[in-house]
Amino acid sequence: MLQVNVSRKTQEAEGVCSFELCPVAGGLLPAFEAGAHIDVHVPGGLIRQYSLCNDPQDRDRYLIGVLQEPGSRGGSQAMHTDVEQGQTLTIGAPRNLFGLQPGATRHLLFAGGIGITPMLSMAHTLCHQGADFELHYCFRSSDRAAFLQALAAAPFAERIRLHDDSGAQGQKLDIHALLASADAGTHLYVCGPAGFMNHVLTAGDAAGWPQARLHREFFAAPAADPDLDSAFEVVLASSGKTFTIPADRSVFEVLDDAGIYLETSCEQGVCGTCMTGVLEGIPEHRDQFMSADEHARNDRFTPCCSRSKTPRLVLDL
Ligand code: FES
Repeated sequence: MLQVNVSRKTQEAEGVCSFELCPVAGGLLPAFEAGAHIDVHVPGGLIRQYSLCNDPQDRDRYLIGVLQEPGSRGGSQAMHTDVEQGQTLTIGAPRNLFGLQPGATRHLLFAGGIGITPMLSMAHTLCHQGADFELHYCFRSSDRAAFLQALAAAPFAERIRLHDDSGAQGQKLDIHALLASADAGTHLYVCGPAGFMNHVLTAGDAAGWPQARLHREFFAAPAADPDLDSAFEVVLASSGKTFTIPADRSVFEVLDDAGIYLETSCEQGVCGTCMTGVLEGIPEHRDQFMSADEHARNDRFTPCCSRSKTPRLVLDL
């Protein structure tokens, strides 16, 4: 845990604020790699993950960008309304689940809306490395596009391609053409709303790109229809204890009530913190953290949101 001071809060675009965070005690912050995120303890008791979007060479500050989402469960809303300049926040140390691939000969970065945040730190790092890359930034309209000024002034500005959904047809993202012209050493990174990410990743699949070259960072797993959920049992392999998971509760919630501690963070299936081994049964994966190949192995699942296709799951707990 770290205590940081909100040294600057800036309205970056309609519905998007950035927060510059500096150590309360002065000095340097823990180093981070491009693509990393931090847990922010938001006023009201929620913990939310936000990507670091400044240059990782900055050691005296972190910068995060927060979209005020209409469907917010309270996290982004509280950041916008309850956090002001000069306030102290508690954050976790940076963690990276979305790293750049050192073996890639070329990097294609695709950002949709607020998904620009991890791409900024990635672009800074690739620029320092002298790497070959392009950053494609798609947004609904320029007044909702955060960090446009910073991008225009960035040392990698000539590598940025802007795609305004409300603009002329010719500048819109043609993902199929881009992927078709890429060589086998090119890796793709995508972050943004689920629909945008699925569009890019589906194009990658259709172009025959292996999963190992498709890298993603989701902000939230798509909501499932709770009316379609049903009860199932989980068994803890170490003790044989059996728990019934009702249709309206998660595995994490039931085990937590029983005093069985599982580390969690996002509770939305995006961070992987709660990942738990599965020894028997077939999970119904609801997370966005694992790849399709990892889901198909069915040897791990995320108890914060995933459920079961079989009447019983035996967990490696
Ligand atoms: S707590 Fe983040 S995936 Fe479960």
